[in-house]
Amino acid sequence: MMTDVRESTATQAGVRNRRVGHWLMLVAVSVMLVILGIKLAVYSFLNSVPDDFFARHAPDLRPAVPDAVVMQEVEPVPGYLWQTLPADAPAPLENPTTAAKVALGEKLFFDKNLSLDRSLACASCHELYSYAGTDGAPVSTGINGQKGNRNAPTVWNAAFQKRLFWDGRAESLEQQAIKPFLNPIEMGMLSPAQIVERVKEQAAYQPDFAAAFADEPDITIANIVRAIASYERSLITNDSPYDDYVRGDSAALTEQQLSGMVLFEKTGCVHCHFGPNFSAASIYNSGLPFRVFPANPDPITQQYGLNTESDGPAVWRVPSLRNVALTGPWFHNGAVDDLHDVVRIMARTQLARSQKRSFQWSAKKLGIIENPDLTDQQVEDIVAFLKALSSRRLTAAEQQHLTTR
Ligand code: HEC
Ligand code: HEC
Repeated sequence: MMTDVRESTATQAGVRNRRVGHWLMLVAVSVMLVILGIKLAVYSFLNSVPDDFFARHAPDLRPAVPDAVVMQEVEPVPGYLWQTLPADAPAPLENPTTAAKVALGEKLFFDKNLSLDRSLACASCHELYSYAGTDGAPVSTGINGQKGNRNAPTVWNAAFQKRLFWDGRAESLEQQAIKPFLNPIEMGMLSPAQIVERVKEQAAYQPDFAAAFADEPDITIANIVRAIASYERSLITNDSPYDDYVRGDSAALTEQQLSGMVLFEKTGCVHCHFGPNFSAASIYNSGLPFRVFPANPDPITQQYGLNTESDGPAVWRVPSLRNVALTGPWFHNGAVDDLHDVVRIMARTQLARSQKRSFQWSAKKLGIIENPDLTDQQVEDIVAFLKALSSRRLTAAEQQHLTTR
């Protein structure tokens, strides 16, 4: 009897369990059906969207180019617009560029008296010809042999950047120029007044200031930085093979450089390095000058000390790529001295190229994207293209420097 009761309770429990199981199954199947329905609805909605919908509604990353910069001779390239730089850089209203200011600025740029121990000029860390406007070192050395923690960027074409320094903390060349004078580990001057004194002690400067600033010829810190900024606005290169190509000389680039150019666009480098100065931080672009770097963690960034934890803020100004093949070592910490690795790092960290699989929105599909590493050949081609961004003048000068050293 006891056994029977136990058995029937067991049977009842079994029936209940099975019922619950059925219900659960039913709920699961309905949920799946609803999800499938939603998926189908989204899919057919996306399919009904006109082909260029996303292109039209995506933020336009291409720059708004003032008339002066549009080169009439440019062959229209479908999609991305390749541009060359103008021969003159625009100047702020309060500091128009004049020949007299440029000449004065050049003298100041090369004047070693403007550092505390009179050992360094701006040009010491920004060697215009031997190192294409940099010092060729991973990080710069200031007065008393003090080492900084940043790589010196080139001053060539800096006039076309609306943000200066690796972290973009200066908004104009005028704002930037005072900083290295007063930086204790760069030129080490104690105050703006001391800089003015050092300029005043050289009588030869007086007529230069009179010529450059007819209205207010005083030797002041404001006039000193204005003259230096004007001089920097004259440091322009638009004589690279790339520029010749964009102006219509179809033989200016090699086959490999052309493949690299296509890859540079297709891989997505142009999302950040776009416009005539190859930078989102260019004055010709209205977009955001900054990007997180490294945006995707990758072991290769740790190898070069580029990972965020050990190296301050992770947001950097997008640098120009003009003359980049001449300005190594690269990145804000100057840690990478092989341009191939720079390209690999960019592809992996900024374009997620090492992630074998990821879920992404592509033009119209929600799905799995295979995003493999660039092949060695592709890296070679992109490097070849980057070399095509080197000014012919600066390339010749750097080669001569290397052979006569
Ligand atoms: C001791 C070496 C050194 C000296 C001297 C020096 N610089 Fe620099 N310069 C650097 C370094 C390093 C950076 C990057 C610093 C950073 O981003 O924090 C830099 C950045 C710049 C930039 C920004 C470029 C860009 O693309 O963001 C300009 C412009 C510049 N310097 C001009 C000058 C001028 C003008 C002088 C003289 C008044 C000068 N520098 C003196 C090392 C030097
Ligand atoms: C999402 C934005 C973004 C994309 C996409 C991107 N870059 Fe960059 N690139 C940057 C930033 C930001 C830096 C500065 C990194 C730093 O702090 O040193 C940089 C630096 C570089 C440098 C070194 C510049 C120098 O003077 O040291 C090169 C070369 C470069 N990028 C090439 C490329 C190439 C080639 C691609 C495509 C494979 C690419 N980048 C894609 C944002 C981007």
